[in-house]
Amino acid sequence: TEAKLDLVKKHIKAFPDFPIKGILFRDICPILKDPGALTAVIDLFEEHVRQTHHQVELIAGLDARGFLFGPLLAQRLGVGFVLIRKKGKLPGRTVSVPYTLEYGQAEVEMQEDAVAPGQKVLLIDDLLATGGTLSAACELLRKNKAELLGCVVVIEMKDLRGSERIKPATVFSLIQY
Ligand code: PRP
Repeated sequence: TEAKLDLVKKHIKAFPDFPIKGILFRDICPILKDPGALTAVIDLFEEHVRQTHHQVELIAGLDARGFLFGPLLAQRLGVGFVLIRKKGKLPGRTVSVPYTLEYGQAEVEMQEDAVAPGQKVLLIDDLLATGGTLSAACELLRKNKAELLGCVVVIEMKDLRGSERIKPATVFSLIQY
């Protein structure tokens, strides 16, 4: 496990002042470029889910980088994957939840029939920062009467206290800064 975490950590690149001055952007692209690092991420997630959320029935991933890891984990676990998108991208009947960003407003949306009532769902994204995105996603799953088991992310920015914002839901992160 330690070796896998080291490998993952080596494939996260930091970019100062992106997307705006003062923000240190943590980029997961090098993970995707390296098959070993990507396998390590999915291995570590799989291990966590099998130990902690073995009842999981569905993975819901967040637009856009949750889509990169979610289907791989879902396939490992033998469950389905659904998309939580930024508003306006999904056809058919949808449910949405607005949330505030550092600058302005955004809204997450999913198809009304994406989750069955009582279905045991796990949320996945690349990174937890302020928790605005994940907490809106949690609210969206509650609205759809899903049973939220928890959230998993590759990176957690501890200083921003996002995990407090998503309570009572819990988050599991591989790497913390
Ligand atoms: C980033 C990241 C998370 C979110 C975390 O996505 O991938 O989804 O921000 O920030 P928060 O915890 O403060 O809400 P972004 O909104 O940049 O969208 P993208 O993945 O479509 O680029």
